Amino acid sequence: MSTPDPARRVAELRSRIEDANQRYHQHDAPDITDAQYDALVRELEALEAQHPELAASDSPTRRVGAAPAGRFPPVVHAVPMLSLGNAFEDGEVADFVRRIRERLDRDVLVFSAEPKLDGLAISLRYEDGAFVQGATRGDGATGEDVSANLRTIAVIPQRLQGKGWPKVLEVRGEVYMGRADFERYNEHARLHGGKVLANPRNGAAGSLRQLDPKLTAQRPLSFYAYGTGLVEGGTLPDTHSATLARLRDWGFPVSDLAEVVSGVEGLLGYYQRIGEARDGLPFDIDGVVYKLDDYAGQREMGFVSRAPRWAIAHKFPAQEQTTVVESIEVNVGRTGAVTPWALMQPVQVGGVTVTRATLHNADHVARLDVRNGDTVIVRRAGDVIPEVVQVVVDRRPPDARPWSMPMACPVCGSEVVREEGAAVWRCSGELSCPAQRVQAVFHFASRRAMDIDGLGERYIESLSELGYLQDVSDLYRLGVDDLLEMKRRADERDGTTPDTVKAGKVATKWADNLIVAIDRSRDTTLARFLYALGIEHVGESTAKALAQWFGDLDLIRHLPWPLFKRVPDIGGEVARAIGHFLDQPGNQQVIDRLLGRGVRIGDSHPPSSRLAEGLDLATLLVDLEIPKVTPVRAAQLGAAFADAQAVLDAPAHNLVTAGLPADTANALVAWLESPSNAGLLLRSAQAQGRLRALLPDSGGQPAGPLEGKTVVLTGTLASMGRDDAKARLESLGAKTAGSVSKKTSLVIAGEAAGSKLAKAEELGIEVWDEARLLAFLEQHG
Ligand code: IVH
Repeated sequence: MSTPDPARRVAELRSRIEDANQRYHQHDAPDITDAQYDALVRELEALEAQHPELAASDSPTRRVGAAPAGRFPPVVHAVPMLSLGNAFEDGEVADFVRRIRERLDRDVLVFSAEPKLDGLAISLRYEDGAFVQGATRGDGATGEDVSANLRTIAVIPQRLQGKGWPKVLEVRGEVYMGRADFERYNEHARLHGGKVLANPRNGAAGSLRQLDPKLTAQRPLSFYAYGTGLVEGGTLPDTHSATLARLRDWGFPVSDLAEVVSGVEGLLGYYQRIGEARDGLPFDIDGVVYKLDDYAGQREMGFVSRAPRWAIAHKFPAQEQTTVVESIEVNVGRTGAVTPWALMQPVQVGGVTVTRATLHNADHVARLDVRNGDTVIVRRAGDVIPEVVQVVVDRRPPDARPWSMPMACPVCGSEVVREEGAAVWRCSGELSCPAQRVQAVFHFASRRAMDIDGLGERYIESLSELGYLQDVSDLYRLGVDDLLEMKRRADERDGTTPDTVKAGKVATKWADNLIVAIDRSRDTTLARFLYALGIEHVGESTAKALAQWFGDLDLIRHLPWPLFKRVPDIGGEVARAIGHFLDQPGNQQVIDRLLGRGVRIGDSHPPSSRLAEGLDLATLLVDLEIPKVTPVRAAQLGAAFADAQAVLDAPAHNLVTAGLPADTANALVAWLESPSNAGLLLRSAQAQGRLRALLPDSGGQPAGPLEGKTVVLTGTLASMGRDDAKARLESLGAKTAGSVSKKTSLVIAGEAAGSKLAKAEELGIEVWDEARLLAFLEQHG
């Protein structure tokens, strides 16, 4: 194809390449992929070859990279740091070998073949064995002095080991960031709002060019040596491979993957092997490098403008490509985490066709500002899922709108909520969301929840996939026949039907046992039931606290969230999570079905009298977390107004008369203007009323016979499990603890009690045996 106006195209290409060089070398923020860059350079090279009249000494084809940005002192390289010519196809490798064979007139050519690490080229200068200076490549002639930053990289020797090193030695190599380090770094940045690195190479380059070495030290950088520069006052071996071995002896990391091979077949075989190993390597490589091994041959071959004639880089398919985002979708994980991903026009990345890429989380989308229709850079490296790393903003369609997280779960329609300060959004349909079903049932059945023995994850998965379980309540509809049928179908599907079954013998005992276990789980406690629901943030201890304080499922399931904050240790975040869960009609329906299918809570009781203190208007106004309404302001409001309705009806000036500063009054009025807030206030106040009515008579009943006591269990009890004993003691008001101290009020010693019993005796703490415990439980049960 001939270009209509070569001069114009050459100028265009030069300007585009210069721009890319600037972005890559000085700002560490490239806007085109390496493959695109290579294509531009090749096109320019071809045009310059066809049209010698257009050649220019300052063409980017004759220079390497960009002149330093000037933030660091310049370092003039005693031996220039050159670039490498590229080969993309086997034929180009064959041409490279042929050129050397012809010029050197040799039949057998021996090469050092090495991985081409994707990082940043560095020159390290050692004088009398001590590291004195390290510099970036810069434009090849002059680089930047980044010695202080290089000193923070642990694998770079400060002093050379062994002996025999030249008086002055420059070692050249690549600073890079390993994949795992890169992933870890980005994961941390994503969670804490830091700058996410587009790829390990940008990470390495950006890190080395930090002005503060302390920042570099925080970045996980590594280094591999691959050659030398200036050598004075000493000599090196005659071959490159022997020099690499020597560098290793002197303390430099040298890649284990380097090999000595001969001829085109040797080179292509190496390319193939490393290509196969590529995805599993702990660092990114973008190709391999072939270097004529003997220095005499290298000298004879010499250089063309920007690269040696004795070496070439053989590139792998690019790990980054540009493509267009067709839509941004969300995925709901097993735990309810809602994560965005991009559906894209198909593109080959690293030899694989990619159509989807992760966008990690909503913050990441916001930071990248990815929109539908955007041209983006996708990256796929190693086993890592392809990810969108950058948007090419110049190519954005004019009508592209910023993306935002959907309000409703795409799987079950429940509300999608975000925890304060967290990057993750979650579906609040824990019990009713099919995406969370397996996880929900697994948790529901676990030992500390409903304790259904024998219901493993595999069975749950099959029951769910084959349609026997829509939600946890379906467990209580299963019969032995359903289980046997499920097993038969799952085995058929997986091709795992046992020979005994084929011979007509079907094992049924497991199914009988499982049905018995499910049936037995129907009788449970409120704490176990609440824990089993799998509400975000509600672990066992929170579930127990809720059970102790409120006592009754029917009460709890209709409480607005601010009321949950009356339980010590439940803060706003946990209270809201419980509220979100209970607000989802799907979750409430599952609870109804569970009760309808025979789940019975045996330990319901009236709410704790300890709630009495916090059922007033002032406390509610604090619990609602209204901006500017501090406890002092809430107390003023509580004193001035009869009830919540009166606050709601009050004009702003009445709030001021009640003693509120104007800005607080305005904040409260603004808050109450939202119908959902006003509704929450009134519903919460009504719930307070219901609770008050349920409280044991005031002055009232002691909260439990073991109230205020700390009890330690030790040894084995014959009549009940330790968890059971703990639950019963706690239901009588005790706190249980794991070790005996002066604070312990009582120790229950079962069979074979050891050091805890001894300690209790030593401290003079009351000790009960099992019989005494049983008598006590009987009396208070
Ligand atoms: S040799 C004169 N060997 O690739 C020869 N370079 O495209 C100079 N690179 O600037 C380079 N691994 O940053 C050489 N084993 C290796 C390499 C390697 C990575 C980088 C280096 C160089 C660039 C050339």
